[in-house]
Amino acid sequence: MRFDIVSLFPEFVAQLAAHGVVGRAGERGLLSLYGWNPRDFAEGNYRRVDDRPFGGGPGMVMLVDPLRAAIRAARAADPAPAKTIYLSPQGSCLTQAKVRDLASQPRLILLCGRYEGVDERLLQAEVDEEISIGDYVLSGGELAAAVLVDAVARLQEGALNDADSAEQDSFGSDGLLDCPHYTRPVEHELGAVPEVLLSGNHAEIARWRRMQALGRTWLRRPDLLDEAGLSKRDRALLEA
Ligand code: ADE
Repeated sequence: MRFDIVSLFPEFVAQLAAHGVVGRAGERGLLSLYGWNPRDFAEGNYRRVDDRPFGGGPGMVMLVDPLRAAIRAARAADPAPAKTIYLSPQGSCLTQAKVRDLASQPRLILLCGRYEGVDERLLQAEVDEEISIGDYVLSGGELAAAVLVDAVARLQEGALNDADSAEQDSFGSDGLLDCPHYTRPVEHELGAVPEVLLSGNHAEIARWRRMQALGRTWLRRPDLLDEAGLSKRDRALLEA
């Protein structure tokens, strides 16, 4: 999968690509990341990328032309069709279902705004979708783009070392929160590992994990249960 990140801070892209799951997915040829700096497409001695807002008010607004040229250059760099996404608190909220949908795309162009915003005409003309990573305001779209790339990269087949782990995560295919995890030592001053996990009884371990996942979701995020893929047995447990 290919990501093109349109940003005034392309070095951020290189940082993101160098580490962790995204870095490894890149090394394995599962994804590639390219940065496009609108300043490289700006005209004049000052290579201006923003200007004051019409109607007054604080801050600066990013200009149409350098952004449009950067997006178009990114689009033209590869023949695969690209969805263009603007990261913005006004977008629809990123969920694991949305991440799964995006992970099936051949490429994404991610537009990171800065300052007070981006000229609305550019958004109308060039952007397919606006996505928010939560109901709070960041000072730019770069961190949101990093979140999106990370979440999508780990779903690329072969990106994670244990093929099952994406399914078992919180918001895996069943939409529940994850169960608790333990490792050595068995006994610790902070407590002991639950005995069932040491029993070697795989059916019992699976049952315990399912109960924990259900219980946690019920306690912490009951809203998720409405959409979760629950069996009749799960429902009976929760309704008891
Ligand atoms: N840019 C600024 N705030 C944002 C948010 N919450 N999500 C996505 N992009 C943003």
